[in-house]
Amino acid sequence: RTLVVVRAEAQAINTEIRKNEEKVVDSVAVAELSKPLTAYCRCWRSGTFPLCDGSHAKHNRATGYNVGPLLLKKQKE
Ligand code: FES
Repeated sequence: RTLVVVRAEAQAINTEIRKNEEKVVDSVAVAELSKPLTAYCRCWRSGTFPLCDGSHAKHNRATGYNVGPLLLKKQKE
């Protein structure tokens, strides 16, 4: 048997999208949401995936990456 261990920290998540920004966060306004704000993880490090738990901040500090969540915001009427 061969055990292959892949260190996730060694792999870049965002190699080309908006690299000049400190953190890449996008938001979408949605009319029908039960909560005012929901953040979805795009770094794959969240302990509550698919929701963002803020783990991207530690990952970004350790790697120099700038990945951030996708925010769904309840559209104001
Ligand atoms: Fe992954 Fe926030 S924990 S984007």
